[in-house]
Parts: sequence; structure tokens; C-alpha cells
Amino acid sequence: MTACTIDFEPVGRRGKCQRNESLLACARRLGVGISSICGGKGTCHACKVQVLSGTVSKPTSSELEAFTSQELKGGWRLACQTYPTSDCKLTVPPESMTTAQRTQVEGLEITVQLEPPVKAYRLQLAAPSLSAPHADADRLLEALNQQHQLHCGKVDIDTMRTLLPKLRSWNWECQAIVRNDEVIALVPWSNRQLGLAIDLGTTKIAGYLVDLSDGRTLAAKGRMNPQISYGEDIISRINGVIKSPDEGVRLRKLVAEALNQLSVELCTEANANAEEIVEAVVVGNTAMHHLFLGLPVRQLALPPFVPAVSRALDIKAHDLGLHIAPGAYVHLLPNIAGFVGADHVAMLLATEVWQAEGPVLALDIGTNTEVSLASNGRISTVSCASGPAFEGGHIKDGMRAATGAIERLRIADDSIQYQTIDQAPPIGICGSGILDALSQLYLAGIIDEGGRIMDNHPRVRTYKGQREFVLVSKKERDGHPAISITQQDIRELQLAKAAIRTGIQVLLETKGCAEEEIKQVIIAGAFGSYIDIANAVTIGMLPLLPLSCFQQVGNAAGMGAKLALISLSKRAEAQAIASRVKYIELASAPNFEQTFIQASYLGQYRIIDGRREEID
Ligand code: FES
Repeated sequence: MTACTIDFEPVGRRGKCQRNESLLACARRLGVGISSICGGKGTCHACKVQVLSGTVSKPTSSELEAFTSQELKGGWRLACQTYPTSDCKLTVPPESMTTAQRTQVEGLEITVQLEPPVKAYRLQLAAPSLSAPHADADRLLEALNQQHQLHCGKVDIDTMRTLLPKLRSWNWECQAIVRNDEVIALVPWSNRQLGLAIDLGTTKIAGYLVDLSDGRTLAAKGRMNPQISYGEDIISRINGVIKSPDEGVRLRKLVAEALNQLSVELCTEANANAEEIVEAVVVGNTAMHHLFLGLPVRQLALPPFVPAVSRALDIKAHDLGLHIAPGAYVHLLPNIAGFVGADHVAMLLATEVWQAEGPVLALDIGTNTEVSLASNGRISTVSCASGPAFEGGHIKDGMRAATGAIERLRIADDSIQYQTIDQAPPIGICGSGILDALSQLYLAGIIDEGGRIMDNHPRVRTYKGQREFVLVSKKERDGHPAISITQQDIRELQLAKAAIRTGIQVLLETKGCAEEEIKQVIIAGAFGSYIDIANAVTIGMLPLLPLSCFQQVGNAAGMGAKLALISLSKRAEAQAIASRVKYIELASAPNFEQTFIQASYLGQYRIIDGRREEID
């Protein structure tokens, strides 16, 4: 059976594909980032591609459901369901791509006293002679301990391998980079010491290059997590690893490659070299942490959801496939539980929530939303399965925050006012736009509190057997298919917002705290930073509090990683936070189901004596 050549445009990637290999599998193999929320089951419709030339397998039932006959005639297919029967040229539309999307790196900055875990010491060594012929490594340690009153006892093996040529070519002058009692790198006198802080998210990766001598951020960049092509949510990725252990190795390599590329990009921007990076800190949710380290993940998907390790770790960068200074270490902050990881610890560290006196809520909204309630040094945390709806997943015309996504939306009588990312023509709707749409439809009386679309607006229609509200019509899109919010989309959004509000409610009830007592609500994460808070309150996702109580802090997990990079005290504080947090399993909370049902209705409300009471 001869292989076919597949040309993926506009990325311009071309490669061989066996006839029994799906277009999605081929794309993954070639490193073309195609979205795959369901992991290739044909249910999410996120992997749409257009076959421009060549022939492919007959449409499956999933594809007949996903496309009209006209779209199928136009070559539209689901990459996970389609197999080539000849050489093909494909277009991957922006909404199906996992790259070129908005990634957030900014967040609040805190000034701390510099206390990095590595220190540089300038040395002038005596050259060996016949009367003093002792070994280079011993000569180095002796000089270091004598000249700087240290007690260093070892030299990293990779550093030792290059010791001989370096010392001689630098005329016995060097800087020894020391971590605890180990020399981890040897560099010229003029070198800077750089650090790398990484927030390893399920969807996005944010990286920060930091000068360890003064704590300045020299460069910050984000990129998509390439593991997305193997399942958008963490459970799909874990299931993939359970089915095939090779998948775990592949996912680990993908992240290491992405981190290496990111560190090169950051260094290029700062006119530095990746080998100048002598320390790194990585934070992520527990599953991302485990996949990065190659730890087992099966147990994370099964009750009681136990992590393989929770405590902070220090691991040699080269053991993780990272190409920074060969002797450098990667510090991983502690995890809290199977679904509350080091990224939440970093967020609590950066926002200093744990020091709050009055009740403070801290949320990091994503496919999994972590919510903490802190008061007088006590912290309780829940993890809510909010799902991918607010990242555009499971939504008919949903997409991530990329060019052409509707990010803001208002309904004014019969017309829709919207704003797209990069002011490009609309191609779909991202999380902040989806939340706006839900709130606006509710305020305009087009959906009722139960989420049912009413037949009371010219933009409401029945299409493919279900009611939907047309945001941008086919005519308004110059003949392209309309962008709409369907009844099914609204159900997905209700589940997502109910999960978050239930988490808040359970925490309040567990702590015996009333909503009105909350002094502050801190919202972190990319989605949380772009949302319109008033709209989130309108649909009942967040409690009704004065808007001045809400603070959107951007990528606080990334900021926490930076703090842990430059301060040993902050690392100790992170460990103290992780041990202090009381994790509450949401599903086992009393009245969980009732609370969830109450939270799924739209509109502002409070729970009084266990009953939902609407607030006008
Ligand atoms: S429909 Fe293709 S990955 Fe889900």
C-alpha cells in the first residue's frame, strides 16, 4: 500500500501519510497543531479541515452530522475521521489551529528581596605545575572554598566534562555558579546568571526570562501547549496515556521541545544564550506536572485522585530534556491534590491571598477551575470541572482566543455589536464573547432563567433540528456559514458556570461564611482576565458583590513561578501554603447536587436557608 503525500496549508507542512492513518494522526506526527478536544472520537468537531485537492475516504456518520451536504461537497471534513486515498492538499482554518493564539503572560508584579538559589563566585585559580599537579576539579573546589569561605564538595558531572578546556582557554579566571554545595556551571567572568520561570498550562505555556542578579524580567512570551493535538482537556490526555504508554513518552517530549523552543525565543529577545540559564522553576496543574516528569497519571483519573508526588522537587534540567546550562536544576513547586496543582500554589503565593484577614476568594478559571477561600491564614480549596466551554470547546462555533474570534458582544434590538480579536472578520466566538452572549441573551429576555431559547427575536431560528440564536448571519459573513449560539451551547455554558458557582458556594458553606462577608474576589488566568465581570455576575457565575471587590490579576501562576525563581524564602512560603491548604472534594460535599442544580439557573441569586432566592 503506497503512502500518500499530504500538504497542510497555510502552515506549509508536507509529509507522508499511510492510507490507514487519519489526517489528524498524520498532522500530529508532522507537528501541525490541529485542535482535538475529544481526542479523535469525532464528537467535538474541533478538527475541521478542508480538502482542496486529492481524494479521501467516504464521510462517516460524525461528519454527516458535522457538515451540510454543501460543506461536504466543498471538501470540509473532520481530520480525525478522514483517511487519504491519494495525495492531498488541505487547508487548516484558524479556528482548528492550536497555534497563533493569544497567550497571556502579563500579571501583577511583586517586589521581593533577592535570594536566588544559585550564586556566582569569581575565581582566579593558580595554574597547575609539576610541584602542584592536582586535579582541575579539586583545584576549583579548593580555590572556591578558600577564596569565598564556602563548603562546596562537588562539581556537576557535565560541568566537570568541560572543565579542562574552559579553565585553560580562560587563563584560569572563571565564575563558579554554586547551588547549595555543588558547582553547577562554570562561566566566563563577564557572564550574566539567568533564570527561567514557566507556567505550564493545559492549553498555554507562559515563559519568563529573569536576570537573577537583580530580579528583572528580560523577556516574557507565551505559546500554545503542543499536547493540545492529543486532547484538549487533561482527561483525554490521561486516557491516551492509559491506552498506550508510548503516548506518555510522546507528550513528555512535546513539552520539553516546546520549553526548549520557548527558552531560545526568550534568549533571542534578551540577546542571551540558553546555556546562561542556570535555574528554572516550573509550575503547572498536577497532571501537567506528572506528564512533564514522566510520572504515572492513571491514578489521577480514578478516585481518590492521588498524585504520585506532592512535595516540591529539584531535578536536573538535562534529565527532563531541557537544554539550558547542563548542570542547572529545575525546581517544581508542590502540588496540593490530584486536581489542584503547583500552578494554584503559585497563584496563592503571588496574590498573597493566604495572608488576607477577611474572607478572600481566589479563582483560576480554566477547563478545571480551582477556587480557594482564605481567611485569617486558613485556606480551603476546591477543584471544579468547569470544562472547555469557556475556552470555546463543546460550543458549535466556539474557538480559542485567536484572530477573528468574537471577544466582546452586545445585543442592541435586532442588531449585534461585536468586537473581534485583531479586528479581523469574525470566524467564531471565544470564551469572553461566549460569556457576553449568554449574559446579553438573558438580559434581553431571549433566553429564560432555565436557559431555554424563546421564539421572540428575529435572530432566533430552528436549524438542524435545534433552536439557535444567530450572532452573525450568512449574509453578514458574505456567504460563509452563520455564527450562532445553539440551545446545546447554552446547556454546556450553564454546566460550566454552575460548576464554578457550586465550588464557591460549597467553600462558603464549609467555612460558615456568608457571601456578603467576602472582602475581595481575585480572578486569575487568561479567560478570567478578559471577561466582563458584570456579565459573569449577571448570569450568576460569580456572586453579587460590588464590582470594586473584584480584581483581575492576569497570569498570577506565572508571577508566582517568578517569585519562586528569585527567592528561596518564597519557595519555603509556597511549601507552607501547600501544607496549609485544606482540600475539599466537591462531589462529596453535603447538598452538592442541590447546590449544582440551583447554580445552573441563570440570574443573580443568593442561597438563603438552603434555598435559591433571586436578586433583582
Ligand atoms: S471531531 Fe476530530 S478530534 Fe474531535
